[in-house]
Amino acid sequence: MNNKYLYIETFGCQMNVHDSEQMAVLLADIGYRLTDDPAKAELILINTCSIREKAEQKAFSELGRLMKLKEGNPDLIIGFAGCLAQHWGAKVYKRVKNVDLVFGTHNIHRLPEMVAAVQEERKKITQIDFYSEIHSLNIFAPPPKGSLSSFVSIMQGCDNYCAYCVVPYLRGREMSREPENIIDEIRKLTQCGVKEVTLLGQNVNSYGKNLEHGCDFVSLITKVNNVEGIERIRFTTSHPKDLSDGLINAFAELPKLCEHIHLPVQSGSNRILKRMNRGYTAEEYVEKVERLRAVCPGISITSDIIVGFPGETSKDYQETIDMMEKIRFDSLFSFKYSERKGTAAQALQGKVPEAEKRQRLKDLQVLQDRHTQEKNTALEGCVQEVLVEGPSRNSAQDVTGRTRSWKIVNFKGSPALIGKKVLVKISRGYLHSLRGEME
Ligand code: 5AD
Ligand code: SF4
Repeated sequence: MNNKYLYIETFGCQMNVHDSEQMAVLLADIGYRLTDDPAKAELILINTCSIREKAEQKAFSELGRLMKLKEGNPDLIIGFAGCLAQHWGAKVYKRVKNVDLVFGTHNIHRLPEMVAAVQEERKKITQIDFYSEIHSLNIFAPPPKGSLSSFVSIMQGCDNYCAYCVVPYLRGREMSREPENIIDEIRKLTQCGVKEVTLLGQNVNSYGKNLEHGCDFVSLITKVNNVEGIERIRFTTSHPKDLSDGLINAFAELPKLCEHIHLPVQSGSNRILKRMNRGYTAEEYVEKVERLRAVCPGISITSDIIVGFPGETSKDYQETIDMMEKIRFDSLFSFKYSERKGTAAQALQGKVPEAEKRQRLKDLQVLQDRHTQEKNTALEGCVQEVLVEGPSRNSAQDVTGRTRSWKIVNFKGSPALIGKKVLVKISRGYLHSLRGEME
């Protein structure tokens, strides 16, 4: 068997991180070991993201940089994977000639076969077909040693076609994994020491739609709640239009389900939400958040917002600000709208000038920082359960972990606490973390 080195560089979302882990597991079977040093590698894979233009530019410039390694090592194989590869297909070779392998998001399971073909036949391989069954998600990727927390993909693809988004075109139709496979993976993770799982999908609330024997998302998390060894359950991402009463109630009923939901709102203007094809109104969104808070008072709510979507006037933008004032998110990921080829929004009139988008984003982030700070200050004096994840980055005497509501807490404590759940009294709330003392 070979004993060769593999270097993988990953861009983009957690889904991609997960895909890269699966690539590494598959390639280990044919003798490739991971390295952190691309100069040592015999095989380099770049797993790309296409969600915004900036991600696309970064991936291509990294590909260009790594291609230089071929000059001193002509046998080096370089592969381009993920959403950008899916979108560009064989056109990647026009832009960067000497790439050996281009494969899309549904073809990870074929990686060993593709790498062998490049090695033996020294020809380029392009594989961007979509399949109607799930392949790669059912490959078990053992977590890195000492991991307490792991992501578990429960579905792939997306059927929502939000007007700005490339995901449905690049990751294919929505498909859910069988619950037995998911539970089996979670059991294996607990045997590796994992105590917290985050169930992953583009829209977890519609989990189970295509399953023959029916299992919806609430039934799935109920099953996960019964897995011995799992202490905390999280999930991401939830689509507001599909957030059911059953799931809202689960926050009160399932003891392991943590009090945090990432619920992307995207805009506070009904006109823009409609143009985005989001399927809910601002009022419906606020009402769902109110219900979540009624059922689970300490729940933290985080969100995504896009500014400068085509047609967004200053009045629409103001409605987003008003929504933020009303909800007061615990934290927020905010983006300037980025036009993506092939999406419905590309054809929309009313492009917002770049400078205006930049200003809107900046103002919105100033407001969010104020809200995040206020939320974190409000926790001062409260006792929080923290799962201790490791030593703190800033001080050798400190350890760090997260509250059930997903906030980072640093406090004085010995490394012996790592892996344990402890009660910590919050003494200070900062913008990006909390400081506390063990009870
Ligand atoms: N431009 C800007 N932001 C986008 N997102 C998705 N597509 C785009 C785009 N074309 C954001 C959305 C989504 C998050 C993952 O990325 O807010 O929730
Ligand atoms: Fe994209 Fe919308 Fe699907 Fe999320 S729900 S992946 S934003 S199309």
